[in-house]
Amino acid sequence: MTIYLLILAGYLLGSIPFGVILTRLFGAGDLRQIGSGNIGATNVLRTGRKELAAATLILDGAKGAVAVLLARHLVPELGDHAAMIAGAAAVIGHCYPVWLKFRGGKGVATLLGLALALAWPIGLVFAVVWLGTVLLLRISSLGGMLGAVSAPIAALAFGHPVYAIGLAGLAVIILWRHRENIARLRAGTEPRVGGKKDAPK
Ligand code: G3P
Repeated sequence: MTIYLLILAGYLLGSIPFGVILTRLFGAGDLRQIGSGNIGATNVLRTGRKELAAATLILDGAKGAVAVLLARHLVPELGDHAAMIAGAAAVIGHCYPVWLKFRGGKGVATLLGLALALAWPIGLVFAVVWLGTVLLLRISSLGGMLGAVSAPIAALAFGHPVYAIGLAGLAVIILWRHRENIARLRAGTEPRVGGKKDAPK
């Protein structure tokens, strides 16, 4: 398998919109018309279906992890570079999926799965920063963004320069995908997880 086929496989894998599929399949409505309109687990939670939100989080995370495992299995000779590129393709596929006219999600769960599969200590730092922020402040978007930014720093600290560069690029994409959340955070109107007004738009 060439690196180009691997990138295509990673992208197509990442572009599967599990949040949209699960909410439609189990009668939870059209996710694009609910809350923030985002296709991720946080917005699935706003439908009131916790089990679907948990499944979306796990499946979106698995997309990043499986892309890394595919690279390691199919082109082991390409090492860290192939794993990083395949995983990045999955995150980009989640954010810009061909099936949804390139209007996809914000990439946090897929990036977390990717970080865990690249090197679990990096994923652990990401998860602790993300979960810690969400538990403390109950703002999912802020947790996701801080987690994404922590990943390249952790990669550098743990001696993975290739991952640090790739994860830094992906953190920029994650921040860009959260630009509406950033505007709401600045205005003090970003909803809190489980809050009464948990429905931006
Ligand atoms: O992972 C998505 C999260 O960071 C923000 O989602 O729906 O609150 O915009 P949402």
